[in-house]
Amino acid sequence: MTAIGSELRSGPLQPGDLVQLTDPKGRMHTITLERGKSFHTAKGAIAHDDLLDGPEGVVASSTNGTKYLAQRPLLRDLVLSMPRGATVIYPKDAALIVGLADIYPGATVIEAGAGSGAMTCSLLRAVGDSGRVHSFERREDFAKIAAANVERTFGQPHPAWEITVGDLATELADTNVDRAVLDMLAPWECVSAVHTAMRPGGVLCVYVATTTQLSRIVEELRGHGGWTEPESTETLLRSWHVEGLAVRPNHRMIGHTGFLVTTRRLADGVELPPKRSRPSKGAYGQDWQAHVAKQKEQAEQADGKATPK
Ligand SMILES: C[S@@+](CC[C@H](N)C(=O)[O-])C[C@H]1O[C@@H](n2cnc3c(N)ncnc32)[C@H](O)[C@@H]1O
Repeated sequence: MTAIGSELRSGPLQPGDLVQLTDPKGRMHTITLERGKSFHTAKGAIAHDDLLDGPEGVVASSTNGTKYLAQRPLLRDLVLSMPRGATVIYPKDAALIVGLADIYPGATVIEAGAGSGAMTCSLLRAVGDSGRVHSFERREDFAKIAAANVERTFGQPHPAWEITVGDLATELADTNVDRAVLDMLAPWECVSAVHTAMRPGGVLCVYVATTTQLSRIVEELRGHGGWTEPESTETLLRSWHVEGLAVRPNHRMIGHTGFLVTTRRLADGVELPPKRSRPSKGAYGQDWQAHVAKQKEQAEQADGKATPK
């Protein structure tokens, strides 16, 4: 039995396959192959029949002689070209999440929010057909976009995937979960629910975009007591220009995407041994107390428990 979606990744090009056409300037167009159809550009047309039944990695000529390299898009290409509702997790972070969260074939993974379904596709790839990914998404319109993107990536609905429209903090009823990935504005609201659902030793990976979110989720995890000391990382991916003696970093790069926080669930009733190293002087001083008090006040205002000053 072949894995879901693998038939779209290899073999001769077939009707329904996605193909990425790259012109000499590196501009890309993604088309779905259909017998008898043509793809029209300002530089002439390319007949789909010229590509069908042949291998990928070929160069096709348009009617006015422009050459296009034809290849199946990779998952990272699909993510960057997918219709979006919410902002997607970029391929560099998705790859690292799969690694740091130790997503393995057959694992049961929960994820929120599904957003555009980009991270969902990487998770489904990693758990395979025998695993399970249960995604949560508050917004029904985004859940629909995520479902369409999963189907576009795998060519059919993925049997290992389930999506629940709703808030993970209140809707999560799964048990014995192996791994969890959170990408949302307020992940600290979901820490307890994920802890209840997860088995001891399970891994939680949280993606946040800002330093204030990073601080809040790490302190929430520490304060909860049911998790190992959180590890925080950021990855900067720099591409290089390599031509003869001109070997240097490219001038442009994506400067910042987000931070990853990784932690593991402790067994019930276990307390972490106290940390050997003390927090630096001032880390939890007066400014910190004021910061926490402000956060509490804002949360109470948001819950309607206090009148704004
Ligand atoms: C940045 S997007 C996620 C993008 C997604 N990881 C991807 O790669 O396509 C954040 C999403 O989380 C959803 N969300 C926020 N809080 C949530 C919660 N508590 N439960 C479920 N979904 C939530 C939002 O509606 C939004 O669509």
